[in-house]
Amino acid sequence: MRIVLGVGGGIAAYKVASLLRLFAEAGHTVTVVPTAAALRFVGAPTWEALSGQPVQTDVWTDVHRVQHVRIGQEADLVVIAPATADLLARAAHGLADDLLTNTLLTARCPVVMAPAMHTEMWEHPATQANVATLRERGVDVVDPASGRLTGKDTGPGRLPEPAELYAACLPYLDGTPQPAHGRDAATQPAQDLAGVRVVISAGGTREPLDPVRFLGNRSSGKQGYALAAVAARRGASVRLISANVTLRPPPEVEVVPVGSALELKHSVDGAAASADVVIMAAAVADFRPAEVADAKIKKTHDPADPDAAPVITLVRNPDILAGLVQDRGERGTPLIVGFAAETGDATGSVLELGRQKLARKGCDLLVVNEVGVDKTFGQDDNTVHILERDGGDAITVGPAPKEEIAAAILDRVAWHLTT
Ligand code: CTP
Repeated sequence: MRIVLGVGGGIAAYKVASLLRLFAEAGHTVTVVPTAAALRFVGAPTWEALSGQPVQTDVWTDVHRVQHVRIGQEADLVVIAPATADLLARAAHGLADDLLTNTLLTARCPVVMAPAMHTEMWEHPATQANVATLRERGVDVVDPASGRLTGKDTGPGRLPEPAELYAACLPYLDGTPQPAHGRDAATQPAQDLAGVRVVISAGGTREPLDPVRFLGNRSSGKQGYALAAVAARRGASVRLISANVTLRPPPEVEVVPVGSALELKHSVDGAAASADVVIMAAAVADFRPAEVADAKIKKTHDPADPDAAPVITLVRNPDILAGLVQDRGERGTPLIVGFAAETGDATGSVLELGRQKLARKGCDLLVVNEVGVDKTFGQDDNTVHILERDGGDAITVGPAPKEEIAAAILDRVAWHLTT
């Protein structure tokens, strides 16, 4: 088959040399069309040596052969890897400012695009809209993998490995083009949560003291957001009840913003009634100020004693998780997953305290993580122990990125839903 391999200007271009090799070894004729930026990462000699074909990038070479039209017209398959945010945008908008985008406009064969970029760029609504447009037009956009990116950051945005990309192209290589959903499972997350309604709470509650102050905690919401992103990718319909989180919402997830524990309870209870799974990843304040001042509390609040510190009386907040377990009663649904933030203390280790908490709360799964000033809160990597209500050994996951932890938790959820 005649394959056009379009290479975008991203660091992952180096992986595409191996993909080219796989195509060539399988006997395909591959024309590599790098963008000008791609050539800054991997030069033309590499592409020419591996493909055995000359490499062009602009529309001004070999003009007499009308390359900007011919390459696309003659292709049996166009594969773009890495598809950068810029390249996705140009393709979605039908621009034709270099040889590769001209080729995309003239190709009438299947097109596979493998995006790779930093997580923020991938999750940006502009990129997501461009991907949606391309998919609507029939382009097979492969989901990026999750993991280590160029710098120290991790998250979705990695180019899948060459063998996975090759597998994504296989349906088109045997001459029987298939729609994207018919692809090999290696490149698409298993849809094992398809149709499952999942409610996830994330972040940390803020308990107001007066119009400008609150009692809060250090939760960033990253673990809850990672759970929402992974569950949605695995087919779940996700409602994310988000307490004071500044992260960008994952695609395909309904976000309900809340502030205090009482607001969180109201939203969670409302959503739980029609949910299959509730995951309480939020850090909920156990107490709130008994009174919320209408006006800002002044430094000098007692004229008789100007240096006196105010006394704040706290009252208990309801335990939302325990309430969910109680309310579902004999019904057995939804499946309820709790989190336990533990530091360990004189009365027990992190795991011992976790088991006691599981027994107290009565949820189905309890994800125990060790917290401290520089552990877990706000970090990208985490270690957790997953405890099951019915006993058995704890499953320890990590240290790993929060998306990986999320995937392990959702594996247990999926298992419970099918047994
Ligand atoms: N949780 C809740 N409502 C509360 C407090 C906590 O639903 N008022 C939930 C959290 O979302 C989490 C789990 O309970 O899923 C455990 O939270 P954690 O703060 O570790 O436990 P607490 O019950 O507050 O116990 P303690 O502070 O004594 O460790």
